[in-house]
Amino acid sequence: MKNFINLKDIPARDLRKILNDAKKRKFKRRNLNTLEVDKDKPLNGKLIIQMYEKESSRTRLSFYISINQLGAASITVKSAELHLGKGGESLADTAKILSTYGDGFLLRTDSDKKIEEFSKSLKIPIINLLSPSSHPCQVLSDIFTIEEIKKKPISKLNICWIGDCNNVLNSLIAASVKFKFKLRIGCPNSYKPPKFVIEWVKKSNRKIYILHDPKKAVKNADVVFSDKVVSLNDKGDKIKKIRDFKNFKISKSLMNLAHPKSIFLHCLPRGNEVSEDVFLGKQSRVWQQAQNRVHVQKSILLYSFGKLR
Ligand code: CP
Ligand code: NVA
Repeated sequence: MKNFINLKDIPARDLRKILNDAKKRKFKRRNLNTLEVDKDKPLNGKLIIQMYEKESSRTRLSFYISINQLGAASITVKSAELHLGKGGESLADTAKILSTYGDGFLLRTDSDKKIEEFSKSLKIPIINLLSPSSHPCQVLSDIFTIEEIKKKPISKLNICWIGDCNNVLNSLIAASVKFKFKLRIGCPNSYKPPKFVIEWVKKSNRKIYILHDPKKAVKNADVVFSDKVVSLNDKGDKIKKIRDFKNFKISKSLMNLAHPKSIFLHCLPRGNEVSEDVFLGKQSRVWQQAQNRVHVQKSILLYSFGKLR
């Protein structure tokens, strides 16, 4: 049993194994309907419990499909509907009960500490579905999408992120270390990645490039990423933050500075950090990106259950 909480804590060879498995599985089921189970039914009879403390469209639905395609069943709960942390029921007690009924626990939360606490008391694997500090399922799936489109290992590509230094970027930074790709970040000076993240990159003998001019950051990039300026767990002055990012909007003219064959990715939901013509334009691969989450998450589940081929 293995948890899937942060990319930085997972060996690079395991991440690569997940991607290889996802590729094979995706190909094998190309003629099957959405809820038809993979021929080998690797998680037959298992129950996966999903819990959301924050909104989700894509993660919730794509995991529902992933779980079903592996032959397992899922139930989705909201923490507010459980006794969790109320009426004397501790998180540890809830975790033990989840482990009694379920075989895996998937959590989207507004607290990294909560994931850690759950992981201590659970006897079943936990998968992080987004926390304030990371969004590992999204980013691993995005690496899959990039390699699928570009038909080469991500280590041979220039990746650019324009926007906030948030949970998705933290996972992308971790991925850049694990998969050894070049990552340029374009963000305002006062929104740089936290020091401990930069220190971790240095300690891992890798480098990330932080630029405060989006034109320089995007230059010759093969992939341009963006994300909402205001994230689900942001607590600060949202109006000021949006104002601070006004020069970092992805427009057609900014995309023209990237490589002529560059693609645009965005995990969704979107705000006004990207223009409509880019988001819906020819370079955008956001729908393929969302769809691939089904495939990669299946292999993440198999990794957690020790069932990767
Ligand atoms: N990209 C993503 O995680 O979307 P949801 O918030 O809708 O799950
Ligand atoms: N950074 C965004 C990602 C949403 C999927 C957020 O945390 O809201």
